[in-house]
Amino acid sequence: MNTHVRDISVPKSWDRRGLPGWCYHSEALLELEKEHVFRRHWQIACHVSDIPEAGQYITLDIVGERVLVLRDKDGEVRAFHNICRHRGSRLVADDKGRCRGALVCPFHGWVYNLDGTLRGAARPDSFPPLDKDEFALASIETEVWMGFVFIRMKPGPQPSVAELAKPFEAELAHYRSTDMVPTAGLWTQGSAVNWKSVRDVDNEGYHVAMAHPALQDLYGSTYYDEPFVDGLCRSFATYNPHAGRRWSVRMYRNVAPEGMHLPQELRTAWIYYGFFPNTVIAVTPETVQFYQEFPVAVGKTMLRGGVYRYKDESRAQRLARYLAMRIDRDTQAEDVQLTVWSNEAMTSKAFAGFYLSDLEYGVRTHHDHLRAVLPVMTLDEAPDERDMAEINGRMSSHP
Ligand code: FES
Ligand SMILES: [Fe+2]
Repeated sequence: MNTHVRDISVPKSWDRRGLPGWCYHSEALLELEKEHVFRRHWQIACHVSDIPEAGQYITLDIVGERVLVLRDKDGEVRAFHNICRHRGSRLVADDKGRCRGALVCPFHGWVYNLDGTLRGAARPDSFPPLDKDEFALASIETEVWMGFVFIRMKPGPQPSVAELAKPFEAELAHYRSTDMVPTAGLWTQGSAVNWKSVRDVDNEGYHVAMAHPALQDLYGSTYYDEPFVDGLCRSFATYNPHAGRRWSVRMYRNVAPEGMHLPQELRTAWIYYGFFPNTVIAVTPETVQFYQEFPVAVGKTMLRGGVYRYKDESRAQRLARYLAMRIDRDTQAEDVQLTVWSNEAMTSKAFAGFYLSDLEYGVRTHHDHLRAVLPVMTLDEAPDERDMAEINGRMSSHP
């Protein structure tokens, strides 16, 4: 049975090295990454079900920007910079909440409509007339795909999400993720590593056999990774025929109903859909979730995500979901440790860099995507921090 959605194989010969160590602790490079990798590529902000009612919102602070995602009066999802047009205060301070028909700035009380236009300033007589569009909140490009709200802070090289993610569309559509509802809300967690060390670990399953006993027990014999091609990668696994040596896996296999709502080849599958640069949508027969990482500083990263379930889930699905969450929780803790060990090697003078297996081709192809955006990352030696942007600019315009 061929469960690949794209015909992708590892070339016979390829460069097995990863990015040089300096890329993991350069402040100047991080600024370029924020600008060209993060602000100019699609990011998942939330799921439509996180803000089901008019006036509901979530906020996220990423790569130096404050983002407000809001459902307006007409039911449309919009994203804005969470910055008042008067003196820049945050309009809302919470991670999530609900405003009644308007947003009122907590600093001096300017009021905005839910479509971002200015309703009025406090003490309007102290200003010249203010145009409601000229002083509207700065909007952020938004696209809803499969129920996930994607945002892009600046125009970038990727097409629309629908076009970008076309290869995943038919398969993911079976999960009806648009109709799903949140489980425990959006989560965040800090980690003391460079963001690329998080992605490097997540981009290969070569470590599953050694580092993730529960996943190995559940699906280790069938798991495979597809590399990054055109901004997408995918990993696929179905349950081992004799899964269940570990308690959580045995229980999961015993209670998880075969996903009868899914086509045969997906009924026992766990699939991970990767989006360059930093996001994964993962599915099991019971859940659809997303997770991602954002750089906070060169050695500091925010992990973030959300898990969604069927609105009408059965008791068995609910229990299976709980058990799958336990497996995921252990896996994530194991991965966090691996990212720390991988990241600390990058500051060692003794470490000569990655030498990758064919099974880690996903790591290499992710790095290739990064190098295509920021060619300065092809340099083995770190350029002077002060010259980083200029050298990168020169390398970009003279390929
Ligand atoms: S900063 Fe918002 S009203 Fe003054
Ligand atoms: Fe892992």
